[in-house]
Amino acid sequence: MKEILHQLRCIGCGARIAGAEAQPDFRCAVCGELFDVEYPGWSERGGKDRPNAGALKWVWRERHSSREQLDCSGVWRFRELLPILDDFSNAVSLREGNTPLYHMTRAAMALRIDLLFAKHQGMNPTGSFKDTGMTAAMSVAKERGFAWVACASTGNTSASMAAYAARAGLRSLVLIPEGKIAWGKLSQAMDYGAVTCQLKADFDGCLRLLSQIVKEAPIYLLNSVNPYRLEGQKTPAFEIAEAFDWSVPDHLIVPGGNLGNSSALGKGFREMYELGLVAKMPRISVIQAAGANPLVRSFREHQAASLEPMEAHTRATAIRIGNPASWRKAARAIQETGGWCLDVTEAEIAIAKAEIGAEGLGCEPASAVTLAGLKKLRAEGKVASAETVVLMLTGHTLKDADYTINFHRGKLLAIDEAEGREAEIAGLRRDAVAVEATPAAVLDALKGSSR
Ligand code: F0G
Repeated sequence: MKEILHQLRCIGCGARIAGAEAQPDFRCAVCGELFDVEYPGWSERGGKDRPNAGALKWVWRERHSSREQLDCSGVWRFRELLPILDDFSNAVSLREGNTPLYHMTRAAMALRIDLLFAKHQGMNPTGSFKDTGMTAAMSVAKERGFAWVACASTGNTSASMAAYAARAGLRSLVLIPEGKIAWGKLSQAMDYGAVTCQLKADFDGCLRLLSQIVKEAPIYLLNSVNPYRLEGQKTPAFEIAEAFDWSVPDHLIVPGGNLGNSSALGKGFREMYELGLVAKMPRISVIQAAGANPLVRSFREHQAASLEPMEAHTRATAIRIGNPASWRKAARAIQETGGWCLDVTEAEIAIAKAEIGAEGLGCEPASAVTLAGLKKLRAEGKVASAETVVLMLTGHTLKDADYTINFHRGKLLAIDEAEGREAEIAGLRRDAVAVEATPAAVLDALKGSSR
């Protein structure tokens, strides 16, 4: 008989089930909550399955120079900490992960923080952090023999799922809110061959509908309610710890939408801490858009004991989510690490995005909430200048070129949204100018440039 290395544990009632026993919507049959993947062999100190921290650090470093396909993946390079497959040859990989950690010199100087970094998850194969989770859950779908996979999405999950499904030889179904996703993302789902349905519903409505559909047809659900997604999405935590030579940063700042990512990063750091790979966990703070801030409200009103769904509005369409599925897991990550949960306005997001662009990094609007949130935390005295801070940039700047162009043309924000920030915005705007095709005219254009 094959040894079972992982099981699922309900975060609500604690029920434990085998991986293959999960319901199609990944909700607990007893209490309706979500599951975490757990590895029973890790819990006993000296237990035979408990990974050896020193040996792991050595083997993971060695894999940097390996040409084996699994070792080239920034997710499967850490496979000892995600033994979710019966056979690792089923892994579906596009060489995800291994994303850059950039020093943000300008923002650090402006905020008077010694060490500020951006972990750019937009540098993944389909341009977002979703790829790290998708390789994990898609591999499970393939191993379990599914022909169809599906997700509801604000865009990036669908782009990622469609690509990995195509690589695995599976068919994919995408449900998206009509008119509310960025073109770059929609074009990816088409390019990779998904069946894409645009619904007259928001993201939350799309996910609700899909949860019914998967109960009626043998379609594997790949939203982050699927706990295997989070197993892949925890690996950037390992990369960050490795980059800091296993002394973790003081503070990690993550955008919050459906709240799978913050949950996964919390799990990654928690597991490293429990296994003795690192000596502490970083504070994990989650930042939401002010118009899509159900977790912020939940902390403000109920200390995160319950969450009231809301109708969400923000131009950062990736995080336009009013009923986040993984809110309990994310709240746990914030609470156990002493982090904060706060929101930022549309103007704050736009300004922060332009500043990240001006560092030569660039990101999509949802990612920019991290820098906007850090500014607030710094102003409130919650981040000291001696702290090492990492911002999780979740998506590539080309995902939503319309947003960027509208900002630089001065067409993004309404007058009342920009009120009080006009000078700051004007200083960041770099619209394209029409000039005569002569050297004199082009050189003249330089004179108007303030930088
Ligand atoms: N940043 C980007 C670029 C995203 O696409 C998302 C979520 C988030 C942040 C928030 O992450 O949901 O784990 O809290 N996008 C999902 C999607 C919902 O469908 O692509 P989260």
